[in-house]
Amino acid sequence: MSKKLFIQTLGCNMNVRDSEHIIAELSQKEDYALTTEPSEADLILINTCSVREKPVHKLFSEIGGFERIKKRGAKIGVCGCTASHLGAEIFKRAPTVDFVLGARNVSKITQAVKTPKFIGTDINYDESDFAFADFRNSIYKSFINIMIGCDKHCTYCIVPHTRGDELSIPFHLIYNEAVKASEKGAKELFLLGQNVNNYGKRFSKTHEKMDFSDLLIRLSEIKGVERIRFQSPHPLHADDKFLEVFTQNPKICKCLHLPLQSGSNAILKAMKRGYSRQWYLNRALKLRKMCENVSISTDIIVAFPGESEEDFKDTLEVVNEIRFEQIFSFKYSPRPLTVAATMPNQIPSELASHRLSTLQARHNEILDEIVARQRFQEVEVLFEELRENQNVAGRSNNNFLVQTKGSEEMLGKIQKVRITNPRRMVLYGELV
Ligand code: 5AD
Ligand code: SF4
Repeated sequence: MSKKLFIQTLGCNMNVRDSEHIIAELSQKEDYALTTEPSEADLILINTCSVREKPVHKLFSEIGGFERIKKRGAKIGVCGCTASHLGAEIFKRAPTVDFVLGARNVSKITQAVKTPKFIGTDINYDESDFAFADFRNSIYKSFINIMIGCDKHCTYCIVPHTRGDELSIPFHLIYNEAVKASEKGAKELFLLGQNVNNYGKRFSKTHEKMDFSDLLIRLSEIKGVERIRFQSPHPLHADDKFLEVFTQNPKICKCLHLPLQSGSNAILKAMKRGYSRQWYLNRALKLRKMCENVSISTDIIVAFPGESEEDFKDTLEVVNEIRFEQIFSFKYSPRPLTVAATMPNQIPSELASHRLSTLQARHNEILDEIVARQRFQEVEVLFEELRENQNVAGRSNNNFLVQTKGSEEMLGKIQKVRITNPRRMVLYGELV
């Protein structure tokens, strides 16, 4: 009988994909089967995030919770970004943990499970050409890693310390994975990396001549692939060729996540983002002009050290100008190993909260206007999920969540929907 694996995944889509790789390796090489019940599991894994402080604190209370309910003899492993940056300290703070396996060391999972107190946290470890076994949470939408790590070293960000330097994954591995996914029924490819549009700058072994735009074109030629999304491009690398391919290629979904972080030049410089407010506006406004229905989403950090009222207003101005369809906004969180954590003029938490709610309130006003304009629009939706009361939900090409009456046989199909009742969180509609 197979052993049981429970896995809890925190954080970003790259972590979701790492968890899929872990599940694939363990189920195919060690005969584990997934369970959703931690008390039944022989192996409990927590795939952690360390981009902000909160999830790190939560980790140790989670471990405590699992210790209380786990089966006798069951193992606990801590994986992901917090495993990378805390390493052996995790054993000190939680002695019942059996192994620690950092991001970028995922291919060592079978070894980790078998080796007492295994620790694998080498951020220079190269698994860019490791062919992982295959497992996916969704049949219709396939995550595919195209690069690992990040070279940018933005001054607030811990990621380069947990996922190491940037390496592109060889094209043939990406291509084969995409073909396989599409043969198994995937309609949508979701390409993942910290700076996807810097693809092709550095491979560890091969010397391929390929950039992100060419990669998109080649993947769009695969039979059966109907949609391509990706996350996240960096504004600095949003060159004209990229905007052109994004706009012209019908398989590329018309939603672009372009992390702004701040609208103030002084703060962008202190963050070491490598672009100015003017460059960002130029790229985003050019895209709005080129691509009529594009949705632009972004990440914004408020209260970075030294952020003045003026700097914050600059951010609000960019928000007013670009009118983002979606904003992921965060209070700045000082992270170990980062330059910004030791900067003077850290902003008090109450002021940070105030700025965050000001930003979110302004964006909600913009969003209400954007959403109201969706009424009676016809959009194409890839249905992925059954909802209560015979409803099905999915994403429109430009990434709005859309829900309509329907049933199981609609899952995995792309169908036209006429929006009748647009709300902030979901657009309700009828099949055309
Ligand atoms: N504090 C707050 N937000 C952060 N992010 C990254 N590091 C921090 C930090 N120290 C945000 C950025 C990034 C997103 C994934 O998380 O906006 O784009
Ligand atoms: Fe972090 Fe900046 Fe790299 Fe994004 S680009 S992962 S924010 S260092």
